[in-house]
Amino acid sequence: MKNLAFIGAGNMNGAIISGLVKNGYPAEKIMVTNPSPEKRLALQAELGIQQSECNIEAAKFAEVIVLGVKPYLISEVCQQLSEQIDVTEKCFISVAAGSTIAQIEQALGQPCAVIRTMPNTPSQMGVGVTGIFANAQTSDEDKTLTTSLMQSVGIVKWLASEQQIDHIIAISGSGPAYFFLFMEAMEKQARAYGFNEQDSRVLVQQTALGAAKMVSESETSISKLRENVTSKGGTTQAAISAFGEGGLEQLVTKAMDSAVNRAKEMAQSN
Ligand SMILES: NC(=O)c1ccc[n+]([C@@H]2O[C@H](COP(=O)([O-])OP(=O)(O)OC[C@H]3O[C@@H](n4cnc5c(N)ncnc54)[C@H](OP(=O)(O)O)[C@@H]3O)[C@@H](O)[C@H]2O)c1
Repeated sequence: MKNLAFIGAGNMNGAIISGLVKNGYPAEKIMVTNPSPEKRLALQAELGIQQSECNIEAAKFAEVIVLGVKPYLISEVCQQLSEQIDVTEKCFISVAAGSTIAQIEQALGQPCAVIRTMPNTPSQMGVGVTGIFANAQTSDEDKTLTTSLMQSVGIVKWLASEQQIDHIIAISGSGPAYFFLFMEAMEKQARAYGFNEQDSRVLVQQTALGAAKMVSESETSISKLRENVTSKGGTTQAAISAFGEGGLEQLVTKAMDSAVNRAKEMAQSN
C-alpha cells in the first residue's frame, strides 16, 4: 500500500482520512499536515496517523498527495512543493472545488499525475458523492487508489471529461443545498399551520429521510415512486399541479444551469 500525504487537516481531508483508517488503511502510511497544530494533533490522537507542520516533509514521505486546502491556496501549495521535491514521481489528488487540472499542472510546473475530485458536503458523514477526472499521466493503479480513497466517504463517479465536473457541481456538489432549501420552505409552512419549531423540523426531516430511503432502497424509478403517492384527484395531485403551474421543472433547470455557469466562471478566475 502506498504512503499518503494529506495537505490540510480540515473537514474534507479529515473525513477521508477517518474513512480510510476505519476501512483498514494502515494508519502509519498516512501523514497529515496543517499550519496550526490542533486539527492534525486531534487526527493523530484519534486515528494513529502521522502528522507534520511541514508540507514538504509529508510530500517526501508519500507517493500520493491529497490536496485538501481551500481552492485559493492550491497553486501556492503546489508551487512550494515543486520547488523542493521531484513532483514527476508523485500523484496529486485535489479535492478543491474549482481548481482545474491545468491550473494544478501549471503550478507543479512538470508533467505529473493529477486527479481532480469533486466531493460534496455529505461526504463528511460518509454518504457523499464524488465526481473524479484524471489527466493522461495518471496510472491505472493511482486511479484505483483514488476510487478507494473517495469511496471511504461515499460513492464515486468517474467522468469522461473534465467539463463534466461542472455538471457534478450542479448536481451533487450544490445539490444538498437545493434539498435544504425545499425542506426550509416546507418547515416554514408547517410553522404557519401552527406546529412548533421542533415538530416542524422533525416532520420535514423524517419525510425527507423516508423519501430518500425509498429512492435509494428501491429499483423503481423516481417518477414512478412519485406517481405511486399521487392518487388521481387527491391531495398530492393538487400540490403537484401547483408546483407544475409554478414552473418547478423549468426553475430547477435554470438553477442547475446557473450553478454550471458559475462553476465555469470560478474555474477561470482561480
Ligand atoms: N467541506 C466540504 O464539504 C467540501 C466539499 C467539496 C470540496 N471541498 C474542498 O475541500 C477543500 C478543503 O475544504 P474544507 O471544507 O476541508 O476546508 P477547511 O476545513 O478549512 O480545511 C482546510 C485546511 O487547510 C489548512 N491549511 C491552510 N493553509 C495550508 C497550507 N499552506 N498547508 C497545509 N494546510 C493548510 C487549514 O488550516 P488552518 O485552519 O489552520 O488555516 C485547514 O485546516 C477545499 O478546497 C474545498 O473546496 C470541501
